[in-house]
Amino acid sequence: MTSLFSIKYWKQLLPFGVMICATLPAFSMEKENPLIVIETKQTALVYRVDGDEVNCYYFGERMGDYQVFQSLALPAKGPLLGTSRGQNFNEAALRVTHHEGVLSTELKYLKHESMPVAEGVTQTIITLKDKVYDFSVEVRFEAYSNEDIISMSTKLKNQEPGPVLLYDYASGYLPLKAGKYFLTSFHGEWYSEMNMQEEELTRGIKILDSKHGTRSTHKLSPAFILGLDQPATENSGRLVAGTVAWSGNWSLVFEKQVNETLQCFGGINGYGSEWALSPGDSFETPQFLFTYSAQGKGLASRNFHRWARQYGLVNGETLRPTLLNNWEGTYFDFDEKKIEEIIKDGAGIGVEMFVLDDGWFGNKYPRNDDGAGLGDWEVNREKLPNGIDHLVKKTQAHGMKFGIWIEPEMVNPASELYEKYPGWILQEPTRDKYRQRNQYVLDMGQAEVQDFVFGVVDRLLSQHPGISYIKWDANSHFSNVGSTYLPQDKQGFVNIAYTQGLYRVLDRIRAKYPDVLMQVCASGGGRVDYGSLPYFHEFWTSDDTDALQRIFIQWGTSHFFPAIAMAAHVSATPGHLTKRVLPIKFRFDVAMTGRLGIELQPSQMSGEEKEFSKMALKTYKEIVRPVVQLGDLYRLVSPYEHNIASLMYVSPGRDRAILFAYHHHFRFGDMFDNIRLQGLDPSAQYRVRDINTLDPGKEKWSETSYSGEFLMNHGFSVISSWGNTDDPLAIGLFGEYTSEVVEIKRVE
Ligand code: DGJ
Repeated sequence: MTSLFSIKYWKQLLPFGVMICATLPAFSMEKENPLIVIETKQTALVYRVDGDEVNCYYFGERMGDYQVFQSLALPAKGPLLGTSRGQNFNEAALRVTHHEGVLSTELKYLKHESMPVAEGVTQTIITLKDKVYDFSVEVRFEAYSNEDIISMSTKLKNQEPGPVLLYDYASGYLPLKAGKYFLTSFHGEWYSEMNMQEEELTRGIKILDSKHGTRSTHKLSPAFILGLDQPATENSGRLVAGTVAWSGNWSLVFEKQVNETLQCFGGINGYGSEWALSPGDSFETPQFLFTYSAQGKGLASRNFHRWARQYGLVNGETLRPTLLNNWEGTYFDFDEKKIEEIIKDGAGIGVEMFVLDDGWFGNKYPRNDDGAGLGDWEVNREKLPNGIDHLVKKTQAHGMKFGIWIEPEMVNPASELYEKYPGWILQEPTRDKYRQRNQYVLDMGQAEVQDFVFGVVDRLLSQHPGISYIKWDANSHFSNVGSTYLPQDKQGFVNIAYTQGLYRVLDRIRAKYPDVLMQVCASGGGRVDYGSLPYFHEFWTSDDTDALQRIFIQWGTSHFFPAIAMAAHVSATPGHLTKRVLPIKFRFDVAMTGRLGIELQPSQMSGEEKEFSKMALKTYKEIVRPVVQLGDLYRLVSPYEHNIASLMYVSPGRDRAILFAYHHHFRFGDMFDNIRLQGLDPSAQYRVRDINTLDPGKEKWSETSYSGEFLMNHGFSVISSWGNTDDPLAIGLFGEYTSEVVEIKRVE
């Protein structure tokens, strides 16, 4: 059986399922057309069994009574799952070839059941079977009540006498009906991830996908927001937002049909991934997670953030340490002395962890640039003669944790590993081998490769128990999509076998080392997906640490991912690629909206910069971190629409909030509307103060307290070129790259 469910997910659900034991009856009204209602606190997804078929009638706000879907002859929005069949001329969410060569699949309803599987989580399984063939499909839903997230996935079972070939096998399928559809998607590149674009869908098919294998979220993200009838704004508009939890090739399909309905489905990309299901075998697809919001994008994001913290990420409710990473400070050019200095300087400004990045390994082929050494995970004796433990001790002596970078899925041709195991890489024997960044991708479908990759981590962590954090990188996408391990007729398995192999290794690591912090990275934000979250504490959002660009990258990323998972580092100025000169305060103020880190050579900072960094790190740890990492995000002013940007986080009890405002493009004379806060308790009184200022003496609480109602309706005025500087509630953004951070605290 092929299980694509994450270990964490089942670990959470199983004990509860075992406790419950008995399957409870589904929430259905058993007339001649039973209804199947999948509900969360605020939303409902309603299906009806129409004879043989199951059709979707509603997805929207929760209602008190669904009888009307039985008593009225309302038109269905579409089927439970669109399959390839006679009279269906649309893209199919499920397209298989049965053992006799029949290309169509006609599913009929068999049964459904529903049961609570964890506190606040209800599972519903609808079982369908082909009318002729012993091929069944379980469509599985988990409704996460408090987070208003629904997960959909399928289990395909072949009980036919011969193999069934799977071509397209989406995890989730949603038929929707609105006058118009506005799709927001997230596109990018290395150094410029998660840019937002919005378009009205016209008749035809729009596909978002990845065929990159490893770096599968650089160009497009497997996430979407669909504004129904009108473009969704931050706080208004009906929309559906969804994502695919899969760290390999994925696809999302939107097809607007003749009758103006839209079918929307997503999952593993069927492209180049034909899967032969032998008799008796089954295949489980990953989760397609979605939410409905009648109050715009902000609410949808908060739903996803809560879900990610509760069910997605490793220890999603535990504060993350600040850190100093040496990559941009040294690149490959370091030795023990330099690293020791960096550790000492990092401790001096107050970071809690040091992370040794690329370049620490390889002896026969020393890793002094990106052309050699990948695969040879032995410490380089010339650069670090006293080994890793020496650095761990030095770090711990300063009261800090130690972390280390690895890229275990990859190999340079110039490496001992490749000399020994040339058959371990993805390759097509009759073709030239392409490389990206001078490296090949190991064939994670092979059991021996899985053992090797697990062994890299296992050896590091068991030999150096002082390692608290692993940065797991993957800098090459797939170029040679083939396997020497798979037989000729199963080469189509390579893409999926890779991701399954990766998850198998990560499952083993998590089972043995549940507490080691791990960051997922793929040349920056190349693996920012919900399939990775159950194994990692955070992701490296982008290699681009230029704070101006980060405002946009983090803005896009925040639509689906919580701040606690979003690593954001302060780097040197001018930016190494952008050459932009940015003030230290602006750089910190931007990085503070995620998991704050530093990524520079501290010895190159001026005395003032060091002093500011020390103060900023203290402010982050003591005041900002708990609110940003565990609170609710409200995006207030979009950088896409204005030359300023603003966002805020509110603590779960609404007693504290942190407001951030940035002036990213200055034009003298620009005037801005007030920044109105959100998420506060309207009847509570709050005091406010500027924090992280260039003049720490200025950090004083306002004399006056203001009601939440006032702060949310009137808000802060913005002074950029003109304005009343005596205004006690003014945000001063005088000039380009100015910023302010304000703490808002409930008066007891
Ligand atoms: C790509 C990552 O995104 C960087 O942060 C750094 O770790 C380099 N790889 C090292 O090669």
